[in-house]
Amino acid sequence: MTSVFGPDVAGAEDAAAASALGGPGGHEEVVFCQDRQSGLRAIIAIYSTALGPGLGGTRFYPYQSESAALADVLNLSRAMAYKNALAGLDLGGGKAVIIGDPDLVKTEALLRAYGRFVESLGGRYITACDIGTYSEDMDIVARESRFVTGRTIPNGGAGDSSVLTAFGVFQGMRACAEHVWGSTSLDGKTVGIEGVGKVGHRLVDHLVADGARVVIFDTSQAALERVQAQHPAVSVAASRAELISSQLDVYSPCALGGAVDETTAEVLSARVICGGANNQLAHPGVEKVLSDHGIVYAPDYLVNAGGVIQVADELHGFSFDRAKAKASQILATTKQILAAADADGVPPAVAADRLAERRIAEIGRLRGIYLRQ
Ligand SMILES: NC(=O)c1ccc[n+]([C@@H]2O[C@H](COP(=O)([O-])OP(=O)(O)OC[C@H]3O[C@@H](n4cnc5c(N)ncnc54)[C@H](O)[C@@H]3O)[C@@H](O)[C@H]2O)c1
Repeated sequence: MTSVFGPDVAGAEDAAAASALGGPGGHEEVVFCQDRQSGLRAIIAIYSTALGPGLGGTRFYPYQSESAALADVLNLSRAMAYKNALAGLDLGGGKAVIIGDPDLVKTEALLRAYGRFVESLGGRYITACDIGTYSEDMDIVARESRFVTGRTIPNGGAGDSSVLTAFGVFQGMRACAEHVWGSTSLDGKTVGIEGVGKVGHRLVDHLVADGARVVIFDTSQAALERVQAQHPAVSVAASRAELISSQLDVYSPCALGGAVDETTAEVLSARVICGGANNQLAHPGVEKVLSDHGIVYAPDYLVNAGGVIQVADELHGFSFDRAKAKASQILATTKQILAAADADGVPPAVAADRLAERRIAEIGRLRGIYLRQ
């Protein structure tokens, strides 16, 4: 069983699992929630509240086992702490999973039961959408809890977060382009996008407007046709293998996690990898392999933070312009990280981790200064 308390407490047999959690001390809090009548089985994990309440979405997924769900929520909540820190938000990292097939078991009662558990944490965890949950679901959760974001626009929410996710990925890509080719413009560059769903198809819009040539691949014919109807000049690869082995300047994974491994590094002609998918690297160590092949990898949690920036803004009464201005900063942060990686002789993923950890330590420390409530 995966340990939730990290290597200090877990004991030697759990050290390998705990080290996957990425740091001494592990998570602050992990809560198992059950409501038998509605069928709710959920796990909420809070990795860190050093910068503020842990914000992260609720993944509704038919996990094979409870331990698979636990491993996922532990990894995802840690990643949120790093993502929120790098995005400059006053928010820590948390995440939740609901076990089950959302198409079969999602009901009003289940979502409201879940909302009561979120509320019971008193604001230490703020939830939002993730795979299997939508803004309409957050509207329902919000009937039981104040600590919900990513609601629909008519309910005061920020709406579909993929708008600023795609915008932020584009900013990260511009920073990579400047780093490699000396200009933030993608004009004349060829960008291969894997997955043209909510994030990917909006990214195509930005790239076409900037003058890039775009090649796409998706397992959904409908997704491909939607893009082609809007942008007839975009070409379609017949398979993922064809996409990544074609002549590209930038490869942009915007579908599932784990898309990038040693084989990708071998076959890729692209000098840059920058996309919206979460957890793009198949396993630790791939970032070094990419660097050794001269490929600049923009860490996913750095460049895909536009979505969390969008829903975090809702906590202050949503302003799209304010959120977009904040997401624009992904350009500067990416430049900073690429420069630090070069200066320190480490892959950008390592430089990004270091910057996030420094902000968590420096700003989190300030809470040690006593203030009377
Ligand atoms: N939506 C957001 O705001 C947001 C924020 C941060 C990160 N992300 C991440 O970005 C990625 C895409 O999210 P989305 O919201 O666009 O999801 P989505 O479900 O709208 O789109 C995913 C697309 O990928 C396609 N796809 C699935 N498997 C594929 C495969 N094996 N090869 C090629 N295409 C495949 C699907 O057909 C779909 O068109 C996910 O990894 C998600 O976790 C999304």
